[in-house]
Amino acid sequence: MKTIQKIADLKAIISELKKEGKTIGFVPTMGALHSGHISLVEQCKTENDVTVASIFVNPTQFNDKNDLKNYPRTPEKDYEMLRSAGCDIIFSPSADEIYPEPDTRIFNFGALETVMEGRFRPGHFNGVAQVVSKLFDIVDAHRAYFGEKDFQQVAIIKNMVEQLQLGVKIVVCPTVREENGLAKSSRNELLSSEQRKKAALISKTLFESRTFVPEMSVGALREWVIWQINAESALSVEYFEIVNGNTLQAIFDWEDVSYVVGCVAVLCGKVRLIDNVTYKKDGEIVR
Ligand code: PAJ
Repeated sequence: MKTIQKIADLKAIISELKKEGKTIGFVPTMGALHSGHISLVEQCKTENDVTVASIFVNPTQFNDKNDLKNYPRTPEKDYEMLRSAGCDIIFSPSADEIYPEPDTRIFNFGALETVMEGRFRPGHFNGVAQVVSKLFDIVDAHRAYFGEKDFQQVAIIKNMVEQLQLGVKIVVCPTVREENGLAKSSRNELLSSEQRKKAALISKTLFESRTFVPEMSVGALREWVIWQINAESALSVEYFEIVNGNTLQAIFDWEDVSYVVGCVAVLCGKVRLIDNVTYKKDGEIVR
């Protein structure tokens, strides 16, 4: 496994590999890796000749400077996990390498970015688009792998790829969970073991809520989920929205659309956790 810090070095290697006819798969991350990230690497390996993973804690996507400061960093462990997963190249640039000048680009994702994460983390998706567009340009991969856990991020990235007419195919991978159901997240490291146990209520509630569809109305189900999670005093729901999985806009009737997803953000102490559940896909209710 090669570790590369410089853009020029990575570009040279990728262009050689492409000349040899190799397909390139790309897994962008911010490090502090866990088995969720590794599942993306594993899927990438099955579909491409060469797997590139990036580790870069992108400052422009943190709307809260404390969150950036406290973001877990575990470089040695990350390296070891990627090596044993069979990753071929790690790209871990410095902030100056990615942003020699401040990035002043403003993206417009319309209604996709004014809801949920976009509403509660202003500027977050603009920062994500800044870094991912740069990384896509540098890595120039055939396919790039993203987790469904960050549901809105996937919609934003797909939209960016369309707007910029990039050739990369976005592959979405299922959410990997801890044994108790809690979605794996680098931020889980910031929870106490007691909080981790309590945070399992988030996914438990989301999965249980599926059993009430379509008998319960969308509005009543939304309130039930919020109430259930807030009943645990260690948890506080920031938002829970039941949305059209393509447009991310709130729906009011199960009949209205064929792809329906419930997205939640919950504060557990100071740690912000997100998760989602699919209620309806291809017109069928998901059980
Ligand atoms: P990060 O939070 O490190 O996540 C990197 C990738 O791993 C994302 O595509 C994310 O959705 C995926 N992932 C995280 N937890 C997962 C889980 N439990 N199961 C499956 N996949 C999971 O997302 C980012 O970094 C950044 O915004 C980035 C795209 C790298 C841009 O800076």
